[in-house]
Order: sequence, then C-alpha cells, then structure tokens
Amino acid sequence: MNDKQLVALQAAKYVKNGMLVGLGTGSTANYFIDELARLHNEAGLDITTVASSTISAQRAQSLNLPIVALEHISHIDLYVDGADEITPDKTLLKGRGSDLVKEKLLAKAAKQFITVADSSKLVSYIGQNFVIPIEVIPFAWQLAKKNLQDIGGIGDLRPNAAKDGFWITSHGSYVLDMKFDKSIDAATLNALINNMPGVVEHGIFLGLTDLVLIADNGVVSEYQN
Ligand code: 5RP
Repeated sequence: MNDKQLVALQAAKYVKNGMLVGLGTGSTANYFIDELARLHNEAGLDITTVASSTISAQRAQSLNLPIVALEHISHIDLYVDGADEITPDKTLLKGRGSDLVKEKLLAKAAKQFITVADSSKLVSYIGQNFVIPIEVIPFAWQLAKKNLQDIGGIGDLRPNAAKDGFWITSHGSYVLDMKFDKSIDAATLNALINNMPGVVEHGIFLGLTDLVLIADNGVVSEYQN
C-alpha cells in the first residue's frame, strides 16, 4: 500500500453513519472515494456524498455511492481532500487541476475538513513548489493579470494540454498561474487576491482545514488545527 492510500484509509475512519461527506479531487482523494465505496457496499455504511468535481462524481457514481448535487446542500459533515502544498500553520495550496471553486466551497461548508497527503506536500511557505492558480473570468484575464503584477506576481494564462489555447476550469474560468516572492506571506496574498475584481477563486486555502493527515513511509501523523 502506498502513502496516499494509507492516509486516505486513515481519513475514512472519521466517517460515521448518517454523514453527508464531501469528496475531494485527485489521486489521494480517489483512494478515499474507493474506501468509502467499500465501506458503503460491503459494510453497510450509511452515507451520502457530494463531489468537488465531475471526475470524482463519476467515480462515486460508478462505485454505487449515493450522491447529491452541490446546489442541493447548505452544509456537510466532513470534507476530505488532498493538497499540493501544506505549510506548518496548515495553510494549503490547492487547485493544480480544474476544480478549486467547488473544493473551496466544500472546505468552507464542512463541519470538519480533513486534508490528506503524503509527506512530499509539506513546504515551509506557499508557492515553494507550485505556482498559485488564480481562476479568472475569461474576459477579465488581462485586467486581473495587471492587478496581480502590481502586487509582485509573475506569470501568465495556463495553456491547455495541446498548447493551442487556454486551460478552462470546470467552472468555465481561465487560470493565471502566478509566482510571488516568498516575502509576501500567504495571509497577505489571500487578502489581496480575494479583493481583486475578475478573480473567481484562487488556490490558497487559509484557515480552512481542521485536521491534516500526513503519511510518510508507511506512518501516518495527525496534525490538529
Ligand atoms: C486538485 C487538488 C488536489 O487535491 C491536489 O492537486 C493533490 O492531488 P494528489 O492527491 O493527486 O496529489 O487540489 O485541485
């Protein structure tokens, strides 16, 4: 069993009968979805799920998990998702893919948000290994880019996979992948970017996770917020 699977199985222990559970997106979240399905189908665990992406919804459906649409819920009991970076104060960077709008909505709506990752995701500051994905309304991309440059951002629109156009998220936004100097801390960046017109959402998840589970060579450690 690899570390991503191990940490996902540990998170599944927090799921109880009757819960409405948010499903994250990515390879670690997939292991969690698979384990939930096993518990539901083989052990009779009574749960309903809501997905942060079409790909996770499809996985849940194909595994026979009961699922409701995001527009039908106002809160959830538990959200489990991976992350691209995790700092010592448990700020996360997410959204390498296309689904950070729903991911942040579910993270905020959850009574408990458990982040699951292997130790490669631990960093000392946000932006250490990845650019910060910033979803923008397509027609606003140039104005948003200028505003991001004005606060020190360097970067551009994310190209699509074929490199013949631009990446479109599941929300229908463009993504500006921006790098900032590490002297601008994540809390400041979060506040500045939250305040920018044309920005739909961004990948800094500040003060949202309640518990971080990290697997490192077969050992899981738990860090409470
Ligand atoms: C997607 C995410 C993922 O949770 C993040 O990219 C981690 O992915 P993985 O579990 O495959 O390493 O934020 O938007």
